[in-house]
Amino acid sequence: MRNWIRLLLAAWAMMVAGVAEAADYQARSGATALRIDALTDQILRIRIAQDGTFPEDASWAVAHETRANRVATTATRDGFSTASVRVAVDPATLAVKLYDKSGKTIVADDARPMAQDGRGFTLRKAMPAAEHYFGLGDKTGALDRRGGSFTGWNTDQFGFSSSTDPLYKTIPFFIGVGGAGGSYGVFLDNSFRSWFDFGRREENVLAFGAADGPVDYYLIAGPSTAEVVRRYTDLTGKAPLVPKWALGFQQSRYSYMTADEVKGIATRLRADRVPTDVIWLDIDYQDRNRPFTVNEKAFPDLKGLAQNLDATGVKLVAIVDLHVASAPRQGYAPYDSGVAGGHFLRNADGSTYVAPVWPGPSVFPDFTNATTRDWWGGLFKGFVDTGIAGFWNDMNEPAIFETPSKTMPLDVRHRIATDDFAPRDATHAEVHNIYGMENTRATYEGLKKLRPNDRAFVMTRATYAGGQKYAVTWTGDNNASWDHLKLSVQQLLNLGLSGFSYSAADVGGFTGGPSADLLTKWIQIGAFTPVFRAHAAKDTPRAEPWVDGPVHLALRRKAIEERYRLMPYLYALAEANARTGDPIMRPVFYDYPGALAAPCDQSMAFTLGAKLLVASNPKPESPQSYKVCLPAGGWYDYWNGARVDAATIDVTPRLDTLPVYVRAGSILPRQAVTQSTSETPAGPIELHVYPGADCAGELYADDGKTMAFVRGGFLRQQVRCSVGGGRVTIDFAQREGTYSPWWREMAVVVHGRTRAGRATLGGKAVEAAFAGGATTVTIPDQAQAARLEIR
Ligand code: GLC
Repeated sequence: MRNWIRLLLAAWAMMVAGVAEAADYQARSGATALRIDALTDQILRIRIAQDGTFPEDASWAVAHETRANRVATTATRDGFSTASVRVAVDPATLAVKLYDKSGKTIVADDARPMAQDGRGFTLRKAMPAAEHYFGLGDKTGALDRRGGSFTGWNTDQFGFSSSTDPLYKTIPFFIGVGGAGGSYGVFLDNSFRSWFDFGRREENVLAFGAADGPVDYYLIAGPSTAEVVRRYTDLTGKAPLVPKWALGFQQSRYSYMTADEVKGIATRLRADRVPTDVIWLDIDYQDRNRPFTVNEKAFPDLKGLAQNLDATGVKLVAIVDLHVASAPRQGYAPYDSGVAGGHFLRNADGSTYVAPVWPGPSVFPDFTNATTRDWWGGLFKGFVDTGIAGFWNDMNEPAIFETPSKTMPLDVRHRIATDDFAPRDATHAEVHNIYGMENTRATYEGLKKLRPNDRAFVMTRATYAGGQKYAVTWTGDNNASWDHLKLSVQQLLNLGLSGFSYSAADVGGFTGGPSADLLTKWIQIGAFTPVFRAHAAKDTPRAEPWVDGPVHLALRRKAIEERYRLMPYLYALAEANARTGDPIMRPVFYDYPGALAAPCDQSMAFTLGAKLLVASNPKPESPQSYKVCLPAGGWYDYWNGARVDAATIDVTPRLDTLPVYVRAGSILPRQAVTQSTSETPAGPIELHVYPGADCAGELYADDGKTMAFVRGGFLRQQVRCSVGGGRVTIDFAQREGTYSPWWREMAVVVHGRTRAGRATLGGKAVEAAFAGGATTVTIPDQAQAARLEIR
C-alpha cells in the first residue's frame, strides 16, 4: 500500500514537472541537450538545456493540456517528420532546420544556433533577404519588424514616441513572411526580460533571447500567415467573444469628474445623434484614487447613474487599477482583507512591498497565486451589482511612481502557486512581464464567477502572450499627432497578428489635444478598428465629437454611424475570431499575400475581415495624392457601390471621407443606424451583394451579451451568390442555431447593376427597385434554404 502511494506521488510529481511524456526527439552535444516535441503536425516545441537538465515544464501562456498534445512522428536519418514538416538537426551544433514536405526551408538556425551569456541566452537563425517580420504586439517602429531591435519588458511609457521601446506589453511572438517555405511563427515562451533583433545588430541574423529562464520556444509552420496566426491562438488561446456593446463607440476622458458631468456627456451624445455604447470612468470617480471605492460626493448614486444610462443604451466601464492603497486601520476593505489573506507582494526581507502610485503608498496583489486571484476577483462583486458593465485594469506593468525603473525592484518576491507550476517563490525579474496578464486573469475569472452567463469585458494596458483570453488591450498614452495616428494603425495590426484581435488606440490621442482635422480623421479611421474608444488626458482641451463645431461633428457622426450600419458584419467577424483566431483588423497581405510586394506604401492600409479594405493615407498629415494598390480580383467603392477594377488608383485625400473598398464576391450584412447596439434597428437586415468570383457572406447573430450562443443560442446562415446566364443568383443556406433575429425582412441589395431587372424568389416574382447602380429586393426573412434570382 505504502509503495502504491509512493508510486502515485512519483507519477504526480513527474506530471507536474512535465517529464511524463517522452520527447519526440532528443539530441545531445557535449553537455547540451535538445528536445523537440510535435504538439501538432505544424506546431513544434523546442527546448534546450545547456547543462543537460531540463527545467520544470510550465507556462504562463500555454495550458497544460495543449502542451501535453502529441502527434505521431516518423524518425528520419537526421531528425523526424510529421505529416506536414520535416525537422533536421545537426548533431554537432544542434542547429535545427525546418522544411516543408517539398523540401523548402521554412526556418533554419544559423551555423552558431545559440549563444549563452551568464544566465541569459540568444538564439540565432538565418534571416533570408526576402523575409519580412510581424508581430511582437504593439511595438513601435514600422509595421515590418525587419531591421528593428526590440526589448520585452513591460514599461509605463507615458508620452512614448514612434520609436520608444520597450512599451507596455511583452508578446514574444513574431511571424516570418515571404520566405521559401511560407510563413512561420516563433513564440519564445519566457517571462524574463527578452529581446528580438531582426538583423539590426548582426546582418542577416535573426536573434532573440532572454535574460534568464528556460530556452523554450515554439516554431509554428503555415504556410499562410493566417494559418500561423490561427495556430498561435490554438496554442495560447482565443480571445473570447465580447459583449456586443464593446464594439460600439466609446467615449472616455481622464476624467469625467462627477455623475452630472457623465450625464451631460451622455445627453449631449444623444442630442447630437452620435451613436455611443459606452462612457468610461477614469480614476477620479474613486475616493482618493483607491480601487473599489467611489467618491460619494461626486458620484452619490453610481447605481442610479448606471441604470439611467443603461436605459439610454449607454454602459459604464470603470477603471480598477491593481495598486491597493496601503491604508491600515481605515476600514478600507481591499487592504484589510488583502492583508488578512496574505495577498500582497513582499520585499526580499519578508516585509510588505509598499510603493507610490495613484493612491499614494500602495501594496500589490500577488497575482501568480491562484488564491490571491480568487480574492481579487471577488472584490468586483460590489461594482458588478452596481451595474458597471466592464472594467479597466491600467498601470499593471506594474507602474510605480518616483523610481527611475518605473517599476518594482527585481527582487520583490512573488508566490507562484497556480496551474501546473511547482509551488515556489519567484523574483519580480521572472514575474514582471506576466504580472499584468495575471492581473487581468484575476479580474476576468472573477467576473465570470460572479456572472457565469454574462460575457466579461476587461481592458488592460500590460499583458503577455495569451493575455487575449482575459482582456482586450489598448496602446497606452499616445499623443495627439498625425505621427501617432499612423503609428496606431501599425500597432493595432501587429497586435492582431499577435493574438490580440481586440485592440484600441486612444482616438484623438491621449496627450496634447488634437486639431479639428486630426480628430475627425482619427474618428474616421478608428470607426474601422476593433475597439473604438476616444480618450484624452487631464489638462488637455476637450475632445468629444462636438467640440470643433457642426461641420466636424457631422463628419464624425457620419463615420460613427457607418460603424453601426456595419455592426452585423463587424459582430460576425468578432464571433469568427473567437473560433478561428483570425484578427478583426488585418494587414492587407493577411488575406491577399501578393499585397506584400505591391508597389504602394501600404503602411496605413488594412482590411476589416477579408472583405473591406480601408486605404487610409500613408502620410496622413499630407494633402498630396497617394497610390492605393488593390489586390487582384476586383473591388467596389464602399461608399457608392461603383465597380473598381484598376490595380492601382490615385487617391486625393479629403477630410470628408476615407477610401474604403469592398472585395468583388462579397455579401456584406448591414443594418439601419442605431444610437446604441442595444437598440433594435428599424427595417430589414440588408445584404449587400458585390458580385464577383467565389461570392459569399455570412449572417451571424445572437443575444449580444450572454453565453447562450455556446449552447446553440445563435443564428448562422451562409449566403452565396453567382453570376451567369444573364442573372444574379443568391442562395440562402438553411440557418443554423436557435436564435430568432430582430429582423422580419431582408433587403438584398445587388451592386454594380444598370437596371432593376426581374426578380424571383423560389420561382415567384418579387418586386425589384433600382437606384444608384443597385437593385434592391426586399423579401421576408429566409430561415430555410431559398433562391433569389435577378435577371
Ligand atoms: C494612465 C492611462 C491613461 C489613464 C490615466 C489615469 O496614464 O494610460 O489612459 O487615463 O492613467 O488613469
